[in-house]
Amino acid sequence: MKKKSPHSIPIRQPEFDFDSDIPRYWFNDNPVVTHNFNGYNLLFPEFERFFVRSILYFKDQIKDEILLEQIKSFSAQEINHAQAHQAYFSVLERQGYKIKGLLKLYQRYARFLERMASPKLRVALTAATEHYTATIAGVLLSHPEIIEDVHPTMKKLLVWHSVEEVEHRSVAFDVMQYMGIGYRTRIAAFLMASLDTLLWSGMSTLMLLWQDRISPWRILRYKFQHNNKFRKVNKQMRRNLLSYFRRDFHPSQIDFLEEAHLQLKEVGIVDDNVDGIVNNNE
Ligand SMILES: [Fe+2]
Ligand SMILES: [Fe+2]
Repeated sequence: MKKKSPHSIPIRQPEFDFDSDIPRYWFNDNPVVTHNFNGYNLLFPEFERFFVRSILYFKDQIKDEILLEQIKSFSAQEINHAQAHQAYFSVLERQGYKIKGLLKLYQRYARFLERMASPKLRVALTAATEHYTATIAGVLLSHPEIIEDVHPTMKKLLVWHSVEEVEHRSVAFDVMQYMGIGYRTRIAAFLMASLDTLLWSGMSTLMLLWQDRISPWRILRYKFQHNNKFRKVNKQMRRNLLSYFRRDFHPSQIDFLEEAHLQLKEVGIVDDNVDGIVNNNE
């Protein structure tokens, strides 16, 4: 399969009303799914900044003008995501969750990776994690029924971030290919990123559920309830994730852009200048 030609990656700066009364279980009143997303929320600021540093490391060696432009937009989008998710921490703290210990742990791990992994491995890890975020985001946006009952502020945050993950899904992969990083490193990094995602998001989810004193039995019940409802979606997600193993894989082959932009309008974010800073508050 061929890769698609690059599209523009707009930079948006929406505002989020984190002072509004966001319910404890804002995702369809389901504590397990809510804390799964809360867990990702805690991870995003540290790791999105790590991704940006990993990509920018190669900036001076890249002579392709379009790719350089895309790196600029990728970095701006990710920094905006990191800031918005960091602002959301105040909601979790107001709800009584202790999160400082977890944040410290993620910071230490990101620094450890930065010291121990080579620049090429770091960019391959970034590309692999971006495949995770773009896949989850794309499937979520193409099945709006999953998020129809999510609290409006959180839905806006989720949709905005998901749309931009779909928009910039190829950038880290293109940098990896430009730098001549081959299939073996790509797959090793994918396996490592899978383990990291599973470990850190699982641990964050469990830590938050533990703070709510939710019993393992209820955790399983909520998880099965959600999984049963979205069985077909989970299957599509797994299939798309595993396509990373194809030798001729390129992120642009999985295209959810149209569905993504439709959802953006649904949450009141309207692009009126796709190439510059977009002013898009309701
Ligand atoms: Fe992001
Ligand atoms: Fe991303």
